[in-house]
Amino acid sequence: MNSAAMALACGALAIAAASPASAASEAALAEGKVLFQKGAVPACAVCHALQDAGASGSIGPDLDELRPNRDQVLAVLRDGSGPMPSFAESLTEEQRQAVADYVVWATQPH
Ligand code: HEC
Repeated sequence: MNSAAMALACGALAIAAASPASAASEAALAEGKVLFQKGAVPACAVCHALQDAGASGSIGPDLDELRPNRDQVLAVLRDGSGPMPSFAESLTEEQRQAVADYVVWATQPH
């Protein structure tokens, strides 16, 4: 390998290493956003405010203020809480993870 190719290969490696392994993929975030806005039944946006989603529901807590972590979102999606229904039946685990990744991403500085 000549040195230019070597430099290129190292650059690509550095970029790959710079994105944290746990970061949600853009596809999952996009899916989570659509589920939040209208895909979930009933949609999260009906009850929750979340700026990134253009949501202003006021039945549940304002998620921009609450800034829940991923486990918190996954737990409430699985079990429900008070007036909030469980989404264990209506969303797949993969969809619930996408929503959780999206909510965490949308409520953290980025
Ligand atoms: C019918 C209204 C309604 C819908 C739909 C709804 N929620 Fe909620 N949500 C609530 C209410 C009310 C609470 C507060 C529950 C409580 O105080 O026990 C809550 C609580 C939460 C919490 C906080 C949990 C905690 O640990 O404090 C999160 C996160 C959340 N909802 C996310 C979502 C997401 C994501 C969706 C869509 C998949 C969704 N909610 C759909 C009403 C709703």
